[in-house]
Amino acid sequence: MTWLVLGAKGQLGSELIYLLRSLNIEAIGTDRSEIDFEKPDKIFAKLNAINPTHIVNCGAYTQVDKAEEEKELVNIINADSPGIIAKFALERYLPFVHISTDYVFDGNSVVPYKEEDPVNPQSIYGKSKWLGEKEVLNRNPTAYILRTAWVYGAHGNNFPKVIAKKLRNNETLNVVNDQTGSPTWTFDLAKAIIEVMDKRPKTGIYHVTNDDSCSWFEFAQTIAKSLEVDPNLVKPTDSKSFVRPAARPKFSVLSNKKWKNAGLTPLRSWKDAWQEAAKSVLITD
Ligand SMILES: NC(=O)c1ccc[n+]([C@@H]2O[C@H](COP(=O)([O-])OP(=O)(O)OC[C@H]3O[C@@H](n4cnc5c(N)ncnc54)[C@H](OP(=O)(O)O)[C@@H]3O)[C@@H](O)[C@H]2O)c1
Repeated sequence: MTWLVLGAKGQLGSELIYLLRSLNIEAIGTDRSEIDFEKPDKIFAKLNAINPTHIVNCGAYTQVDKAEEEKELVNIINADSPGIIAKFALERYLPFVHISTDYVFDGNSVVPYKEEDPVNPQSIYGKSKWLGEKEVLNRNPTAYILRTAWVYGAHGNNFPKVIAKKLRNNETLNVVNDQTGSPTWTFDLAKAIIEVMDKRPKTGIYHVTNDDSCSWFEFAQTIAKSLEVDPNLVKPTDSKSFVRPAARPKFSVLSNKKWKNAGLTPLRSWKDAWQEAAKSVLITD
């Protein structure tokens, strides 16, 4: 058994590789120097040479704001290449997991999004990930697509790390309190990926995040408390005062009901996950 994790140097990919190896599962991780999603026509031969038994795609163009200027490239990385990987998996009868995002929704809902709710991405990144979902499922109806949100972990750069750096410098910071989502720890998500591969529920799209929700402001205050610095350093602001090139969904909460109903283990609340994650995420080099 050899798992292939694409995008293995990213937040989720690194965690998954680490977890697989800690479970004594052979795992090969590739980054862009080995399998470059900018060159879809080269991917098939490279996958063939690796000859995996399981494939998980954690690779993606994830710079949401920069994506607004690089639509064509973003679509190649987030849609064309995942489609090729999906096709390879189908032809070899390999189980395949592809990761997608809450950004496929417009964020105008007030209740958690279900898998079958209509998508309406508001950014180039969100559109490319939706295209990716379609490419993957069109080319491989046996694929699993896990949509997640607000991902953080010990590896790579992410919201808690950026906030922690500022708080450690005693900076006050303005954080939006009008965007709601479910912070999701890479460790819990990596375990969820392994469970899907193990249990093989009905194929298709699943929403998988840590449970419950908060605003970025509330998350930042929670980070301050973990650092034992004054949470009042974090000030609330709104999205209008913090305009960025790409639109963010105001409401990103994904319903995990389908996941639970398929007999898969529900992820714990984001607060419980953060309690355990904080130590490894907030560690300084
Ligand atoms: N982060 C979030 O909050 C979030 C939320 C919802 C869904 N997701 C999805 O979750 C998945 C994992 O996200 P993440 O946070 O782990 O992202 P990440 O840390 O940015 O990792 C993405 C990885 O993809 C690689 N990559 C980018 N362009 C590539 C290319 N041309 N060829 C090969 N590899 C390439 C990156 O390599 P380089 O570092 O060399 O660019 C990086 O290692 C993605 O599908 C993302 O869309 C993330």
